[in-house]
Amino acid sequence: MPKGRATSERAAAEEAPAERTSAERAPTAGAGAGVGAASVQLDDVQVRFRSKKRDVTALSDISLDVSPGEFVAIVGPSGCGKSTLLKLVAGLLTASSGEVLLGGERVKGPRHDIGYVFQRAALLEWRSALRNILLQAEMRRMPAARARARADELIRMTGLTGFEDAYPHELSGGMQQRVALCRALLHEPPVLLMDEPFGALDALTREQLNTELNRIWRTTGTTVLLVTHSISEAVYLADRVVVMSPRPGTITEIIEVGLPAERDYGETLGRPEFRAAAARIRELLGAVSAQD
Ligand SMILES: Nc1ncnc2c1ncn2[C@@H]1O[C@H](COP(=O)(O)OP(=O)(O)OP(=O)(O)O)[C@@H](O)[C@H]1O
Ligand SMILES: [Mg+2]
Repeated sequence: MPKGRATSERAAAEEAPAERTSAERAPTAGAGAGVGAASVQLDDVQVRFRSKKRDVTALSDISLDVSPGEFVAIVGPSGCGKSTLLKLVAGLLTASSGEVLLGGERVKGPRHDIGYVFQRAALLEWRSALRNILLQAEMRRMPAARARARADELIRMTGLTGFEDAYPHELSGGMQQRVALCRALLHEPPVLLMDEPFGALDALTREQLNTELNRIWRTTGTTVLLVTHSISEAVYLADRVVVMSPRPGTITEIIEVGLPAERDYGETLGRPEFRAAAARIRELLGAVSAQD
C-alpha cells in the first residue's frame, strides 16, 4: 500500500478508534438495548485559545451532565464553541480550566473508544463502502466475524444493502454519510459525537437520516451529542437541547423536549411539545425566520 494511503487510513480511523474498558460499560438507559452507554459531564469548563495574534475565550462556565443513553443536541451561533465542546469530550482538546468526565473518568487525552461523525463523511475513496466501515475494525483488531456481523446489521439499519461494494464516488452524499455513521457505530461506542453530520444534505435526505438516526439511537442505546444548526433536527432527535450564546460560548438555556423516544417524523413536527420547544429555541437564538 502506498505510504500516503497508510497515513490517511490511520487518520480516518482516528475519527473513532480500541475497545472500551469495562469501567465504561454503564448500564443501558432509556429505550436502547444491548450497548453500554456512558455519561458525559462537563464541570465549569473554560477554553481559551492564546496565540501571539489573538486571545480567544471559546467556552466559558460550561457545566453539563448527560446521562448514559441520553440524546443531547447543541445549537448556537457560528463560532460559539460547539465543535470545541465536542473536541473536549473526545479528548482532542484540553480545557483551560474545569473538568470533563466520560463514563465518570476524567478525559486526559484522545479517547479512542468513542464514535465521531463529521460534516463531511471523510471516506477513503479507494475502499468500498463495506471496507470503509470495516476500517474501524481493522484499526481496533476486532475479531473479523464479529465486525462483519455488526457491519451487516448497520448496513441493513441504514438502508445501504446492495451498495456494500460501491466506492464513495458511486454513492450519494446521504449514502456516504450513512457509511460514516456505520463506521462510527461499528465498535458499539459508549458515546457518539456528531458535528453537523447532515449539514451538507438536501432537506429530504436529511429527514430520512434523522428518522434513521432516531431508530439507531433507540436500538443501540448509545449516548449522543449532536451539534446542528437546524432547530427542527435538534428538537426531533433530542431529549434535551442545549442553546449556546455567541462567543464566549456559555449555556443560555437547556430545553427539555418531552417527546417519547420513538418519533414518527411527520407526526412529531405537528405535536405541541415539538412546536413549543422549537419556538423557545428560536426565540433564544433570535432567529428571524419562522423556519430554520
Ligand atoms: N485550534 C484553535 N485555535 C485557535 N482558535 C480556535 C481553535 N479552534 C477554535 N478556535 C476558536 O474558538 C471559537 C469557537 O470555535 P468552534 O469551531 O468551536 O465554533 P463552532 O460553534 O463550532 O462554530 P461553527 O458553527 O461555525 O462550526 C472560534 O472563535 C474559533 O476561532
Ligand atoms: Mg463547528
